[in-house]
Amino acid sequence: MTMSVRALARAKLTLSLRVLGRRPDGYHDLEALVVSVREPHDAVSLRLRPAVGVGLRLSGRAAPGVPTGEANLAVRAARLLLEEVDEAHNPGPWVGAGLDIALHKAIPVGAGLGGGSADAAATLVAGARLLGLALDAPALAGLGAGLGSDVPFCLTGGAAFMRGRGEVLEALHPLGPLPLVVAVPPFALPTPAVYATWDRLGGPRSERDRPAPPAMAGLLPDGLANDLEPAAEAVEPRLRPFREGLEALAGAPSVLAGSGSAYAVPVRSEGEALALAAVVAAKLGAVAFATRPVPRGIELEGGPA
Ligand code: C5P
Repeated sequence: MTMSVRALARAKLTLSLRVLGRRPDGYHDLEALVVSVREPHDAVSLRLRPAVGVGLRLSGRAAPGVPTGEANLAVRAARLLLEEVDEAHNPGPWVGAGLDIALHKAIPVGAGLGGGSADAAATLVAGARLLGLALDAPALAGLGAGLGSDVPFCLTGGAAFMRGRGEVLEALHPLGPLPLVVAVPPFALPTPAVYATWDRLGGPRSERDRPAPPAMAGLLPDGLANDLEPAAEAVEPRLRPFREGLEALAGAPSVLAGSGSAYAVPVRSEGEALALAAVVAAKLGAVAFATRPVPRGIELEGGPA
């Protein structure tokens, strides 16, 4: 019987984001074009343990600052699965069991790359497999949506339009080749503060539209834009100089990832992405990734999710 399962959790990159307005529940209605990217990614290893409860062990470059208790979305995802075991009509051998999570973090925290949501999605997929729970994709998405707005996308991954507060997904055909650099400055941005500032500024629409790369032809009539950028710049004054430095090095425009603080620059080739990532890391003190979209958000080790 399988006692452990490992899954890769890909970062979510927002290539364009329009905020349509604030909702009565305090969230915001969105229209966003999002993709799973190859790098950065986290790895989640789950192991059954004989005692009840959930354990978490963190490692990896991005581990400092990751919450270890109930604030960690992977821990909350694991608890949801254990509740499913308790409630199942035919719960199998795992009633009274617990889960130990080993989380290897490479997705920077507070960068707008959906790392916590990706970890939660990987935990749901790997945990359902490990516990033998018969949860189909809509059931997993339902559990995930309660954990965070980005979890449903992270579960399916690929390329999609995200609407509603993020849980309404329209899957898109895989994009054509789209080499990218994702540059993460040495400061984080808290998502709730960025949305609250968007409200306080009166709901600005970004006018900094950039032409969409050929891989996205026809998908976005306005090109690439992120309506949260003015709010993110107001929350964190170092963001704009970082972006200007990045664009000067790239000789090309960039787009803010979600609520920030990461920026993405579409480039012409994977070689260019590698070269630019190295220069950006050296000159801007950034963590930089040469990356590209991939068709899945979660990859179970040893087979598809
Ligand atoms: O859903 P999640 O917990 O990831 O959202 C974090 C915060 O981001 C929310 O508390 C809210 O302030 C903001 N948010 C929002 N509208 C969305 C998604 C997130 O206002 N569609």
